[in-house]
Amino acid sequence: MFEIVDKELLAPGIYRILVKAPLVAAKAAPGHFVIVQAIEDGERIPLTIVSAQDDCIELIFQVMGVSTALLAELEPPAKLPALLGPLGIAPEVSPGEGTVLCVAGGVGAAPILPRARDYHQKGRKVVTILGARSKELLLLVDRLQEVSSELHICTDDGSAGHHGFVTDLIPEVSRRHKIEEVLAIGPLPMMAAVCKITKQLSLPTTVSLNALMVDGTGMCGACRVAVGGETKFTCVDGPEFDGHLVDFTGLANRLCQYREYEQTAYDGYRKERGECQCLNG
Ligand code: NAD
Ligand code: FES
Repeated sequence: MFEIVDKELLAPGIYRILVKAPLVAAKAAPGHFVIVQAIEDGERIPLTIVSAQDDCIELIFQVMGVSTALLAELEPPAKLPALLGPLGIAPEVSPGEGTVLCVAGGVGAAPILPRARDYHQKGRKVVTILGARSKELLLLVDRLQEVSSELHICTDDGSAGHHGFVTDLIPEVSRRHKIEEVLAIGPLPMMAAVCKITKQLSLPTTVSLNALMVDGTGMCGACRVAVGGETKFTCVDGPEFDGHLVDFTGLANRLCQYREYEQTAYDGYRKERGECQCLNG
């Protein structure tokens, strides 16, 4: 059992929790993730390790369905019945001079922070573009600012920073900086759109995929994705891949099928708790 020692509401529907997991914290590296269960026999939720402090790991999640809603119901000192990790490949960052452009959309700010921090600590110059639907959904602004030489904010509704998508700023930023590589993390359509632009600009681009996961060990195939025409498993071969080789359409189709089922289950969950879906949107 893994105790939740701290919990904070970061933005509407978005939570940060600190979970006591000493063995995981000791081995965690930037890019690693864990799979957690909010209840016994519940769905398995993959979450990036945002940071590891002493014997705890920091996780950030958005309520998107029943399982994340159940996770959000837990208050310290509640315990998670299962937590598996650290999982995935933690990319090696070489020290150097080259500038890295980090593009984060919405909750993608959480998985991008440990990677941007790692680049920064290895002496790389980090330029970050952070976008959200509106001002109150912008996450980790101060912490991203600390590790970036420039932080550009965008909101879809214009309530802060540039009025528009994160992709709008890439051409201008890449004209002013000699970008060596791009790391993009956020919703699938955002990562696909970033890759379309960076391909035209010939900028190598890495994306982090949030595929469905079950076992997290490469056995079940739930997290499969086509990369460069080959089937890869996000849990053991990723979660980061060359964005110019990812079949975003195939992955989106698989996620959509699941989301339809998940939405029905979530509507039922909200009804059960007396929340009318029609009123709450
Ligand atoms: P969102 O829909 O609010 O979008 C965040 C930002 O991404 C927008 O403000 C915009 O700047 C950009 N964006 C969105 N669609 C775009 C498009 N078509 N073209 C260009 N830019 C676009 O994001 P959210 O609600 O925070 O995230 C929701 C989704 O992100 C969920 O499906 C979630 O599973 C996924 N997610 C992915 C990761 C990951 O590791 N890749 C991490 C967390 C969340
Ligand atoms: Fe089962 Fe990746 S989650 S193979």
